[in-house]
Amino acid sequence: MKEFRIAVFTSGMSRGSNFEAMVNVFKEMKLPIKIEFVLITRRNAPIKERCERLGIPIFHAGTKDWKAFEAKIITKCKESNLDLIALAGFMKQITPTIIDGVGCPMLNIHPALLPNYGGKGMFGSNVHKAVFADGCKESGATVHQVNEHYDEGDIVAQERVDITKCNSPEEIAKAVLKIEHSVYGRAVWNFLNK
Ligand code: GRF
Repeated sequence: MKEFRIAVFTSGMSRGSNFEAMVNVFKEMKLPIKIEFVLITRRNAPIKERCERLGIPIFHAGTKDWKAFEAKIITKCKESNLDLIALAGFMKQITPTIIDGVGCPMLNIHPALLPNYGGKGMFGSNVHKAVFADGCKESGATVHQVNEHYDEGDIVAQERVDITKCNSPEEIAKAVLKIEHSVYGRAVWNFLNK
């Protein structure tokens, strides 16, 4: 069976819980998916500890000079002959140069039920604060393809969670993160096998 080659992109001070959950799903389901490297944009990102513990290579590229960043990651992705890139806490905008240059599709996970609560500025706690303020009864996680507009690519997987018992944005975040962890690895596998 073909072994798929993927990379995980993170940025800033990413904690990497989706990355680790994905590794666990691949292991538990014995899936032939190899994570070639995890991109970090800050050398002191907490996700480094998880990569080291799990024995997955880290690739650092700073974003201060954006053109140099694009060139560096495009070269690395091409060299790695990837089948897919999974964004997991990559908060920068993916530009057309990157989309055209990397030579493989990209997925992202968003902590809400897209097309609601997506777009510019809708990341991290902002999403859960907005969901809470609107008094939503449910939220969830969406895995979608990445295009040059924030959170607008085709949806490939979505799972809902009841949040009627959540009393704060933080509680919603916790409930949604649990869903994210179960949905992303399986969505990656399903997408690779399409
Ligand atoms: C997740 O909530 C994900 O939906 C969003 O960024 C967060 C990353 O969390 N895109 P972690 O680093 O995987 O723990």
